[in-house]
Amino acid sequence: MLLHVPRVLDAAQVADFRKRLATAGWTDGRITAGFQSARAKNNLQLPESDPVARELSAAVRKALDRSPLFFAAALPRHVFTPLFNRYKEGSGFGDHVDNAIRYEQAGQPVRTDLSATLFLSAPEEYDGGELAIGTTCGTQRIKLPAGDLVLYSATTVHRVEAITRGERLASFFWIQSLVRDDGGRSLLFDLDVAIQKLNQDHAGHASAVKLVGVYHNLLRRWSEL
Ligand code: NI
Repeated sequence: MLLHVPRVLDAAQVADFRKRLATAGWTDGRITAGFQSARAKNNLQLPESDPVARELSAAVRKALDRSPLFFAAALPRHVFTPLFNRYKEGSGFGDHVDNAIRYEQAGQPVRTDLSATLFLSAPEEYDGGELAIGTTCGTQRIKLPAGDLVLYSATTVHRVEAITRGERLASFFWIQSLVRDDGGRSLLFDLDVAIQKLNQDHAGHASAVKLVGVYHNLLRRWSEL
């Protein structure tokens, strides 16, 4: 699964995030990296306990709650507390796979089925800094407008290309999905999108009820609570 979710934050929200992040207490990003990925990681991160991080984290969660596209694609069981990172000129994060299990501060384990990056810097503000994701069709390079999010399978090998000009701010987090299997989750998403289109183009079509039934019965079969 690789999906662009546009406008999770609007321009005013992005501006507000940026203003508050400018004065926050950034620290070495290796604090959340696993043993293997710490060697590849070179960036700044806000500690989860930082008051600015806490407030903005809650704001990201609220924004996600307002995004039907995010919900339909991720089918979230649990969204790990959104974190914030900052890549300055010369910094990047080499090839790695995200840890399979993360622990929330309360000790609760979260399985990372999906990874998400919410871009807070506009693409024209920096060179380099693409999120490069390995796929069977080669490397996909992602650089989105500020306020937009990319959702991708946490199983992928990925990296953040080194910044050659400017600075890249982002929020990043992981999602445990109700449907662990990426293929099954993608099928459900395709079916959901097709049903919505059918309802738009042919409101009241008799097949819609049956298709919605298929959707829910597959979700019932595949979901883990
Ligand atoms: Ni990663």
